[in-house]
Parts: sequence; structure tokens; C-alpha cells
Amino acid sequence: MIGIRPETTSDIAAIRQVHAEAFGRSGEADLVDALRAAGALRVALVAVEGGRVVGHIAFSPVVIQDDTSTHNALGLAPLAVLPGCQRRGIGSRLARAGLAACGKTPYGLVFVLGAPPFYGRFGFKSAKPLGITWEHGGPPDAFMVQALQTGALRGIRGAVAYRPEFDGL
Ligand SMILES: CC(C)(COP(=O)(O)OP(=O)(O)OC[C@H]1O[C@@H](n2cnc3c(N)ncnc32)[C@H](O)[C@@H]1OP(=O)(O)O)[C@@H](O)C(=O)NCCC(=O)NCCS
Repeated sequence: MIGIRPETTSDIAAIRQVHAEAFGRSGEADLVDALRAAGALRVALVAVEGGRVVGHIAFSPVVIQDDTSTHNALGLAPLAVLPGCQRRGIGSRLARAGLAACGKTPYGLVFVLGAPPFYGRFGFKSAKPLGITWEHGGPPDAFMVQALQTGALRGIRGAVAYRPEFDGL
């Protein structure tokens, strides 16, 4: 049985382990710790199996900026599932539960930089045709957005900047 719930301080070491093993490096684990320390984790959930943390997802604030306006939104990153537990639907459950939790926040949009076949399942669409880009460019289809509220994309254009904690990644 897999349970999905908000992270707690007693999960922190296990969350580090999940990201370090899934990504094969410490960058994402460090990023999550830095976002948490900065009070920037708006939604952070763990997947738990048999009392063990096997997955984690985080959402932090991003800013969409053009010449005339600035809007606040959320960015999904990172998402990880322990390598031995992947391909069993845990990542999808974390994504869906995370997006549902984001839907209860005041934010109207969520962005993600990732694989379109995976994130397309949860309603993400390429942001570029809407005139919204990631500040660092990157593969055109990999930067995706979804509206959490009807009409939230109306009039939104510009470049999306993640928090400074992402700069070291
Ligand atoms: C991406 C990740 C979180 C998915 O977790 P998971 O528990 O395996 O996901 P699910 O079982 O819900 O879904 C797996 C499906 O997504 C697909 N998928 C996973 N990663 C994918 C990718 N990079 N590109 C395309 N499809 C991908 C798998 O092929 C699989 O498809 P299938 O069910 O049709 O076989 C996990 O593979 C992981 O931790 N990867 C390393 C870290 C990472 O890359 N995170 C995402 C970037 S932030």
C-alpha cells in the first residue's frame, strides 16, 4: 500500500536519499533542502510504502515576467521515486496529488521542465505556443504549463524564473 502525505521534518533524511538515488547525484537533494530552509516549499509531498519514504515531489514559487507585468506561479521540481520502486505508478500519484494540493493554493498556474510524454499525462502542455518561455531557454517542448484555475493563462506572457536556489543545479 502506497500512502501520499505532506512531508514532515522526520522525513528529511529519507527525502534526501530518494533524490540522491533517483538522480544519481546530490544536486536535487541539496536543492530541496535549500528550498525548505528558505521557506519556499509551497507543496511538498512524500510517497510512503511500509513506513519507508519512496518518493517525493516539491513545488516552489516562480515569477513570470514581461516588459510590463509580473505574475506569480508555482514550479514543479524536483520529483523523484527510488529507483527500485519506479514504474509502479508512484511518480504519477505524487504528481496528481501534488497538483491537487496546488489547486488549493492561491496560485493559478504550475510550470514544469521535463519529459512531455510523462508530464502530458497530468495536463501539462508546452508553454512556448502561449508565449511563455523558461528564462534559460532549453528544449522548446520540455517547458510546460497547466492552469489550476479557469482563465489563469489569460494575458500571461513572458519568461519564467525559478528561485535562486535552482541556479546551483
Ligand atoms: C520520473 C519518475 C519520477 C517517474 O516515477 P515513476 O514512479 O516511475 O512513475 P510512474 O510509474 O507513475 O510512471 C512511469 C511512466 O512514466 C514514464 N516515464 C518516466 N520517466 C520518463 C521520461 N523521462 N520520459 C518519458 N517517460 C517517462 C515511464 O516510461 C512509465 O511509462 P509506462 O507506465 O507507460 O511504462 C522516476 O522515473 C524518477 O524518479 N526518475 C529520476 C528522477 C527524474 O528524472 N525526475 C523527473 C524530473 S524532475
